Amino acid sequence: MSNQELTEFVDTSDEWIYSHTGISYRHIAAEDEAASDLAIPAAHKAVEAAGLTAKEIDLVLVATSPPDYVGLPSTACVVQDGIGAVNAGAMDVMAVCTGFVYALETARAFVRAGSARHVLVAGTEVYSKIMNWSDRNTCVLFGDGAGAVVVSPTAPGEPSRIIDSILRSDGSGATSLMRPCGGTRNVYVPGQTPDSELALQMDGRKVYIFAVRAVVDTILEILDRNKLSLDEIRYFVPHQANRRIIEAAAKRLGIPVDRFYLNMQEYANTSAASIPLALNEMNANGLIQRGDKLVLIGFGAGLTYGANLVSW
Ligand code: UT7
Repeated sequence: MSNQELTEFVDTSDEWIYSHTGISYRHIAAEDEAASDLAIPAAHKAVEAAGLTAKEIDLVLVATSPPDYVGLPSTACVVQDGIGAVNAGAMDVMAVCTGFVYALETARAFVRAGSARHVLVAGTEVYSKIMNWSDRNTCVLFGDGAGAVVVSPTAPGEPSRIIDSILRSDGSGATSLMRPCGGTRNVYVPGQTPDSELALQMDGRKVYIFAVRAVVDTILEILDRNKLSLDEIRYFVPHQANRRIIEAAAKRLGIPVDRFYLNMQEYANTSAASIPLALNEMNANGLIQRGDKLVLIGFGAGLTYGANLVSW
């Protein structure tokens, strides 16, 4: 869906959206598609690319915020069944836009502890189903998508290629980006709950300020504790929320914005799917070679934020 198409039903313009966010398009799932429907084909491809069969997967982790069902069952179980991972446990990781960063570190911890050998990690989001399509403050920003990876042990003696992670949260900002009704805090009351309360709501300015700081602070901290300089990182791969957030962070770090891989122009903000979507595109386009160091940076509702330092 292009920015132009949005102007047909909401008071906005291509010029405003692109100049304030760097977004030109977003992809929208079909009416009958849920989060698991996007994750399953991505998961199949990831398992195949890892040279494995689904039966060899020990754990399925799905990062998603509008899941297939509210609360139960987990979307991960639907994905586990959909790919035939008959020997795997399955659970959702709920950290919204930081979900992939959290799930990758969870996978690393399971593999390192020896509790699982091969872990499928998927980020999948169908935000189009929880949008207030008349709220121009939010509906222009998000899109649907999914991406997946498999985390497996390195050969004996080889160092981990997920080198380090930082996971952080600040729940005092919980209401800055939320879906107010439908859970146990504000239950859905038929005929009384306004539709807008079932949709995503955001204090954009507040989240913007938090996001710039989160990107800068997590990058500096993860580099410092691993004794790496900014120059040693091939690409910074941020959550693709808004180009201006990344431009502001790049300026504070004193590096050109092209050190960050950005593709929000095509996909908009796909929350937990944005980092695996970017990694897939970078890999397909030959932008990253084995051994290249990447920093993946997430930030979003919770508030949550964090980073993974990986060697591709
Ligand atoms: O993934 C989770 C993380 N989420 C984010 O990272 C989002 C963080 N926040 C942002 O990216 C930005 O704050 C936004 C893109 C949401 C908003 O950009 P902004 O430059 O902070 O705009 P603003 O909220 O200060 O609004 C400026 C003006 C307002 O008009 P008035 O009150 O000055 O007359 C808005 O009503 O722009 C207006 N506006 C729009 N105009 C046309 C807001 N949305 C739109 C729109 N089209 N879609």
